[in-house]
Amino acid sequence: MTVKDAKIIDLPKFLDARGNLSFAENFKQIPFEIKRTYWLYDVPGGECRGGHAYRENEEFIIALSGSFDVVLDDGKERKVFSLNRSYYGLYVPKGLWREMENFSTNAFALEFGSTLYNINDYIYDYEEFQKLKRDGKI
Ligand code: TYD
Repeated sequence: MTVKDAKIIDLPKFLDARGNLSFAENFKQIPFEIKRTYWLYDVPGGECRGGHAYRENEEFIIALSGSFDVVLDDGKERKVFSLNRSYYGLYVPKGLWREMENFSTNAFALEFGSTLYNINDYIYDYEEFQKLKRDGKI
């Protein structure tokens, strides 16, 4: 997988004077079966989260409120996706290094994952990530 396989996906948006509504479903807007949901909140200014890669887990990330940047890296190319609306999300394929930064006050990042939590799925060392990528192992 390369950063070119990551993509912003628009979600349905029902604009209503009573408040707006969006949704996402398995294999429809989200291109995998959701096994897990996790979220980030109360991130202090200047903090960076998620400096790692997943061997198998795919993700879909939405900025439910506020804004932040998702930085993706495939070992050759880096790409920054700025998320700041709740009616679209970023699909992150497996095997990419990803960091999240520039969180605004009150930013709320909702993430869907394609696998259950498994510490062995994580690669926390960037050099190791680059080697696995070079060797075609992820
Ligand atoms: P981690 O994924 O390392 O956070 P980030 O990528 O934002 O830096 O997770 C932080 C901690 O939370 C880690 O100790 C494991 C735990 N955790 C779970 O137990 N289950 C989960 O689904 C996630 C995402 C994290």
